[in-house]
Amino acid sequence: EAAEKGGYPHFMLKEIYEQPKALKDTLSPRINENNEIILDDIKLTKEDLEKINKVVIVACGTAYHAGLVGRYAIEKFARIPVEVDVASEFRYRDPFVDDKTLFIAVSQSGETADTLAALREAKEKGARIMAVTNVVGSRISREADDVFYTWAGPEIAVASTKAYTTQLMAMYLIALNMGIKKGTVTKEKYDEVLTELKALPEKVETLLENIENIQKLADQQFHNENVFYIGRGIDDHVGREGSLKLKEISYIHSEAIAAGELKHGTIALIEEGTLVVALATHDYLYDKMLSNMKEVKARGAYVIGVAQEGNQEIEKSADAVIYIPNTMDELSPILSVIPLQLFAYYIAVARGADVDKPKNLAKSVTVE
Ligand code: G6P
Repeated sequence: EAAEKGGYPHFMLKEIYEQPKALKDTLSPRINENNEIILDDIKLTKEDLEKINKVVIVACGTAYHAGLVGRYAIEKFARIPVEVDVASEFRYRDPFVDDKTLFIAVSQSGETADTLAALREAKEKGARIMAVTNVVGSRISREADDVFYTWAGPEIAVASTKAYTTQLMAMYLIALNMGIKKGTVTKEKYDEVLTELKALPEKVETLLENIENIQKLADQQFHNENVFYIGRGIDDHVGREGSLKLKEISYIHSEAIAAGELKHGTIALIEEGTLVVALATHDYLYDKMLSNMKEVKARGAYVIGVAQEGNQEIEKSADAVIYIPNTMDELSPILSVIPLQLFAYYIAVARGADVDKPKNLAKSVTVE
């Protein structure tokens, strides 16, 4: 097993460090010399797309969090309304799905029972089925009309890392490809996004080379029993993933909440020393986030801010700041989740937890 871990103490850390390669492997083979996105296993034509009036994304756990970012990307670039559901809940409200619906199942393993059951229901109702999965030949891939394989390589650690970032890459490519086919994204914007997507693996690499700050913060904060993650827009979705990472491997109670919702209840739980991780990576939401951070700080919270480089202003509203390399606001999740993965990892290590095999959890859940 030590050899399989390639010198890393845990599979999770190894997989965190494999992300630049996983992202490159997921992206590069799909871009041809004319900067076109070629999705071999997706047969959806321009005509098929014109018929689609709604996208429904269904997934569990980390894949669900990728689905939330997928909604943003598809609505933004392809201008189709998108619903996202947790797979285990999807069937309980007789969902509006018909032959004009594109149903996207996101699943690392491609075997999750709830996701598969939701897929079958959507198929029965006539939806076109697309799978985003990491496992070739998995059940979900076999039952789908179109497949996008994330080329993350095998993911061993129960806590998902490289599968998540490659699922994000998948969602961006699918959304952009739809957008260019539908004419809802300009060639200029398309080129700009694609250029930035290509630059991301290297930016992740840079992030991974400078982790002392994160390690230090984890060593200071590992004794907390309550940690809150706040953000707005897609920062909120990333906060949810960061919070899930922390609770699944460190057993610390954690909640993620849209920052604007704090005042409707959760802020009552903030007291002296409560740890709040605040994501503020978006220019247009920056001021609102700073004021949320001040609110929790005024109640005694210890605030760790996550922001893009150059936004030093945040230091006035935070006790510590983790900077991510500059990127387009739309693509920030691929970078901002990395420090959250590492933070959860080093906290779990400091607490002596079994990082790769957390109690009560399984890598692939094949029961409903
Ligand atoms: C399990 C794993 C999670 C994963 C979820 C969905 O709960 O522990 O890491 O996100 O299942 O798995 P899937 O294979 O469908 O992505």
